[in-house]
Amino acid sequence: MKIADRRERLDALLQAYHSLWHAQPFREIRPEWCVRWPSLAGELLALPDGAVASLNDDSAAALAFVARHLPDVAELQALSVVPALQAHPLGDHGKRWAWEIPGRKQRQIEAFASASRPAGSSVLDWCGGKGHLGRFLAIEWKRTVHTLEIDSALCDEGEKLADKAAADHHFWRRDALSVADWPQSGQHAVALHACGDLHRRLLTQGCSAGVSHFDVAPCCYYRGVEKTYVPLYSQSKLVLSRDDTRLAVTETVTASPRLARQRDREMAWKLGFAAFRCEIFGDVYKTFKPVPAVWFRENFGVFLQRMAIREGLPAEVVVQSADRFEVLGWQRQREVMRLSIVRHAFRRALEIWLVLDLVGYLESQGYAVDLGTFCPRWLTPRNLLISARRV
Ligand SMILES: C[S@@+](CC[C@H](N)C(=O)[O-])C[C@H]1O[C@@H](n2cnc3c(N)ncnc32)[C@H](O)[C@@H]1O
Repeated sequence: MKIADRRERLDALLQAYHSLWHAQPFREIRPEWCVRWPSLAGELLALPDGAVASLNDDSAAALAFVARHLPDVAELQALSVVPALQAHPLGDHGKRWAWEIPGRKQRQIEAFASASRPAGSSVLDWCGGKGHLGRFLAIEWKRTVHTLEIDSALCDEGEKLADKAAADHHFWRRDALSVADWPQSGQHAVALHACGDLHRRLLTQGCSAGVSHFDVAPCCYYRGVEKTYVPLYSQSKLVLSRDDTRLAVTETVTASPRLARQRDREMAWKLGFAAFRCEIFGDVYKTFKPVPAVWFRENFGVFLQRMAIREGLPAEVVVQSADRFEVLGWQRQREVMRLSIVRHAFRRALEIWLVLDLVGYLESQGYAVDLGTFCPRWLTPRNLLISARRV
């Protein structure tokens, strides 16, 4: 299927089922779609815990589940499939280049390098942190690599690592959002997990500067989105809120049982507090500021009291009602986890929509674009690589 056709179908289906993926069960006890599709809601609410965990972790399985009730949705599965890019063999550079790099990151870098081909006059590693990717490319591709990074301490460390590895690798302490002299004409620009407006800026700035090749693995699409996503290319009527763009990246590598328990408890306690506040102020969900992680270490009563004081609620009521709201919080948590499966069914489709917007932009600027995965999902769910060359 041509990219333009895929974009159009994806767009039509996401518009048609907007109410399913836009609603946030954390904020709405029963999203509107529960009334419209009661058998879907009923089956979800009856799921056992084990099935809930695996469906929330696996967007494809969640989509298949939803498609049993709404058969049209099944098409999103095929529209979300992206082929793996060809992996080219890498040289053996020993272990020295990878000093200090956590194992998973090292494998992402190797996979990224093996899915991309060197091109252009020099390589620009955009928002490169300590420049681990840049260092590896300087060694593997035997090219001059420039890493642009805002954090001076990361650049200092990166320079030491580049010296140790004797790599032709240089650092530029710059703000990617305002820099005017990077990227440069004829360069090969690479970016591994440059968030939201950082990767968007690379594409817009890079196209006008005359970058010859891009290899970009985007992440955190919501970064830099104020209220709604401003497409680079799409003319669609689909409006994505900041939370919608965040949904595209909520899929994480499966959490350990300890982290999953911690996440469940945090959600249950926050929902317990939300229920307490609704009882006092009426039944309208209001957002609240992030809660410090240490507040989840004591018991629910202490947590509720702290939250009540912080949010200006009558803290004296807490003492008699903490147990009741803790039970309510856990009950709500179980419902939220079940109803959220519907949202999670759409997250890869949303991510593909966002990436196709970037692809469309590059094509409109005269680039030939390949879109594929550069590594398996377990290494990172942000495994899409946009590979573009100026034609
Ligand atoms: C998610 S990390 C990715 C780092 C590296 N590419 C990697 O994969 O390990 C994003 C990097 O962008 C840098 N960054 C954030 N805002 C920036 C800006 N405005 N200009 C340049 N770099 C920025 C951060 O300091 C961080 O090192």
